Amino acid sequence: MKILAFESTCDETAVAVVEDGRKILTDQIFSQADLHAVYGGVVPEIASRCHVESISILAQKAIDAAGITRKDIDAVAVSYAPGLIGAVLVGVNFAKSCALALNVPLIPVHHIRGHIAANYLAYPELEPPFLCLAISGGNTILVDVRDYTDMKILGATRDDAAGECFDKTARVLGLPYPGGKPIDELSKTGDDTKYVFPISHVDGNEYDMSFSGLKTAVINLAHNCEQKGETLDRASLAASFTKAVSDSLVPRTVKAAKELGYKKVVVAGGVAANSRIRADFKAAAEKNGFELYIPPLKLCGDNGAMVGAQGYYEYLAGHTAGSDLNAYATMEL
Ligand code: KG4
Repeated sequence: MKILAFESTCDETAVAVVEDGRKILTDQIFSQADLHAVYGGVVPEIASRCHVESISILAQKAIDAAGITRKDIDAVAVSYAPGLIGAVLVGVNFAKSCALALNVPLIPVHHIRGHIAANYLAYPELEPPFLCLAISGGNTILVDVRDYTDMKILGATRDDAAGECFDKTARVLGLPYPGGKPIDELSKTGDDTKYVFPISHVDGNEYDMSFSGLKTAVINLAHNCEQKGETLDRASLAASFTKAVSDSLVPRTVKAAKELGYKKVVVAGGVAANSRIRADFKAAAEKNGFELYIPPLKLCGDNGAMVGAQGYYEYLAGHTAGSDLNAYATMEL
């Protein structure tokens, strides 16, 4: 089954063709990051307009690159939540029109379910159930993936997402948006013990997280240094900050895996590209004897292939939509 899949929830317009949920025939991505970088973050209206400009061009490009014709498309899948509402609406409306014109089923896909499904593309042998930590620019959640379309949130951030925290810290360090990758690079030459930052702890649910305290600690440190006329060791700040994020994420995930008896741990989302977090998860997997699945870098960030992968399983579960499908800024997993 060939699915034409659309992703437009933030600042990437992406269109892919995926076969049977596991094989990428093409994955076309147009990143708007450079357009937003001058503003230090995503400007929603610019994002929406840019999606409008690029989505039809990318759709044709995807069909050509996959070596198929429109007649070969069996279904259309689209990220319909959560995300910047104007941006999501562009993808949803375009996908609805495609499904109508091609007379094929329309499959709504939750964006975070898509991130999780990126791992099905990278690891053909991976099947639920497993534990998943989904860490992106807008979400940070620990999920019990009981089946392809049956998931339970065990814990989530109560404030900022991990990616948001990377982006804000990057701004303090004068690094460009999106800040995750530049912090990753800078941290490689730093000393992660030089600055001590708070590890996220919240009362009530041990699997819930918080990153706003860490963000404030970074801002305060930078201001204090400036006021005292001291030179900030930017590389060590980046390394110490990344260590604090990783120490908030990895032990919690390990604890949940042990408690639920899972031997398979999956990491997903843009922040899963972080080299320190990847290394810490790898070490934890070796130490605790679980199989670790993290997508290759190109499947960590937003892409259309992940939507096509999850779309396949949503279709098998009978989750299709009519032409009245809407877009949503927020939605339970
Ligand atoms: O999954 P994603 O592409 O978009 C959302 O669905 O939100 O995630 C984007 C986030 C941004 O905050 C970006 O700074 C972060 O992922 N990111 C990273 C790295 N690469 C991207 N964070 C840490 N280290 C990285 N190497």
